[in-house]
Amino acid sequence: MVDTLPGTSSALPALIRFENIYKSFGSQVVLNGVSIAFTEGQTTVVLGPSGTGKSVLLKHIVGLLQPDAGQVYYRDERIDHLSDRDMSPIRKKIGFLFQLSALFDSMTVGDNVAFPLRTHSRLSKADIDDRVAERLAMVGMENSERKMPGELSGGQRKRVALARAIALNPELVLYDEPTTGLDPIRSDVINELILKLHEELKVSAIVVTHDLASAFKVGERMVILMGGGIIADGSADDLRSHRDPRVQQFITGRADEADLRALHRI
Ligand SMILES: Nc1ncnc2c1ncn2[C@@H]1O[C@H](COP(=O)(O)OP(=O)(O)OP(=O)(O)O)[C@@H](O)[C@H]1O
Ligand SMILES: [Mg+2]
Repeated sequence: MVDTLPGTSSALPALIRFENIYKSFGSQVVLNGVSIAFTEGQTTVVLGPSGTGKSVLLKHIVGLLQPDAGQVYYRDERIDHLSDRDMSPIRKKIGFLFQLSALFDSMTVGDNVAFPLRTHSRLSKADIDDRVAERLAMVGMENSERKMPGELSGGQRKRVALARAIALNPELVLYDEPTTGLDPIRSDVINELILKLHEELKVSAIVVTHDLASAFKVGERMVILMGGGIIADGSADDLRSHRDPRVQQFITGRADEADLRALHRI
């Protein structure tokens, strides 16, 4: 591509592509014609107010939700409306850290991390044990195989959920609010882990968050989803100098004037 500047994302292939995605629940329009390509090898942060459709967007990537209109592609393969069976090979390539890190509470930490390996790989028991130990060590939870999730703190649970999400060597990791509910130090441990996985496993990542410190630390590209569409897309500096007042308001964390007036009336 001769007309592409070096270092710009358009020179790199898209791993996930949304084309004109519409999604409503009843009369509520959540995604109103969203088109975006997530670049291979990059960490993209998706920001936006609560209830704006960030989790809904991620769920379209793994087939947990299907669009009302539009297409979703994984590389060149169209994946919206695939059956569960046809979606399975795609799901194996994607690690999903859910918003509420849903560990199986009745299983040990080791069994939680081994679960995707037992279900989706043909590794021997010894190889599974090795992989579980290695992934737990990567997230700083070595030798915790025999613990039960109930014995862990919130940050430790997130780390175990992350070890499980990366058990199958995914090409893409989706992080839905990885730092929510954690104190700033534990949050930063998760940020460092996201950066480390990016470097060590060379994974592509999409990080949904409203934690701005986390967003600026891990994001190579930042996208703001608001009002059913993408209102900003670029580097951290692009966002800081963005002209749209909604972008400025969002990234400086200021309350909306109308919300403040409403508060003062209470
Ligand atoms: N399965 C569903 N059925 C009905 N409505 C849904 C469903 N999933 C999401 N919604 C609605 O879609 C909107 C967007 O939800 P979503 O969970 O994507 O928000 P979000 O941006 O992730 O918010 P938060 O930052 O609070 O996690 C919300 O109003 C939500 O109630
Ligand atoms: Mg969400």
